[in-house]
Amino acid sequence: MIRSVFVLGSTSDVAKAICLELGRRGCSRFHLLARNGVANQQLASVLQQRFAAVVSTDTTDLLADASLEQVRWPEVGEFDLYLVTAGSLGDAELARCDAGEALRILAANVSGLIPWITAIATPERLARFGRLWVFSSVAADRGRPSNYHYGAAKAALTALCEGLLLRCHGKPFAVRIIKAGFMATPMTVGKAPSALCVTPGSVARDLLRRPNRRGIEYLPWWWSPLMLLIRHLPDSIASKL
Ligand SMILES: NC(=O)c1ccc[n+]([C@@H]2O[C@H](COP(=O)([O-])OP(=O)(O)OC[C@H]3O[C@@H](n4cnc5c(N)ncnc54)[C@H](OP(=O)(O)O)[C@@H]3O)[C@@H](O)[C@H]2O)c1
Repeated sequence: MIRSVFVLGSTSDVAKAICLELGRRGCSRFHLLARNGVANQQLASVLQQRFAAVVSTDTTDLLADASLEQVRWPEVGEFDLYLVTAGSLGDAELARCDAGEALRILAANVSGLIPWITAIATPERLARFGRLWVFSSVAADRGRPSNYHYGAAKAALTALCEGLLLRCHGKPFAVRIIKAGFMATPMTVGKAPSALCVTPGSVARDLLRRPNRRGIEYLPWWWSPLMLLIRHLPDSIASKL
C-alpha cells in the first residue's frame, strides 16, 4: 500500500491523476514539488479537502536548479513512492538551430532531474522498501526527425534509470520506468492523434493496479509491439515520422 508520495513535477496532468487515485486508495501524505507554485497549491488544497491528507509543497525550476546543492530535500521523512513526472517537449523546431533551446529540453527531461534522482537514490534508501517511478517516453526508442532532442533526453533518462534499476536488483527498493505513449495532456495538445491518446486517469489506474511492479514498461502495453515495429522501420519510412 502506498501511504506517502513525493512528486517531482506535480502540476503535470498525469501526476495530478496519480495523486487523486492515490488519495482514493488511502494515501495520506504528499510532498508536491513543481515549478508553478500557484497550480501546485491548488492541487494541495484538493488533496487536503478531499482526503484530509497531509500535504507539503515546494517549487523548483529544473532549468535553474541543476545542482545537488540546490536540491531542497523536504524535512518530512521518507516516502513509499518517489514519482518523477516533470518533463517538457520544448520547441522542437527551434531546437534544430538554437543550442540554447536544445539544452533547455535536455535540462527539463534529464540533466535537471539528475540532482533529484541522485538525492532519492541514496544507499540507505535503496536498502529499504520503497519505489521510484520515472516517466520516460516511447520517444526514447528511436530518434525521430520531429523531436530528436526530446527523444535523446528521454533515452538518456531511460538508460540512467535502467542502470539504477539493475543496481537495485535483489534489493527491496523498486525502480519502475514508464515508457509512455501519447497522453491527453497540455503537452500533446494539437500534436498527437487523439485516437492514440489515453487519459491521465487511465494511466493512473493502470499504474496503481500493480503498485509493486519494477522494470521498464510501455503504457499502454500496445506501444511495446508498435515500438518494436517502429525501431525496425527502414530509414526511408522512419525519416517521415
Ligand atoms: N503527454 C504525453 O503524451 C507524454 C508521452 C510520453 C511521455 N510523457 C512524459 O510524461 C511526463 C508527464 O507529462 P504530462 O503529459 O503530464 O505533461 P504536462 O502536463 O505538460 O506536465 C509536465 C510537467 O513538467 C513540469 N516542468 C516542465 N519543465 C519544467 C522545469 N523547467 N522545471 C520544473 N518543472 C518543469 C511542468 O511544470 P509546469 O506546470 O510549471 O510547466 C509539469 O509539472 C513527462 O515527463 C512527459 O515527458 C508525456
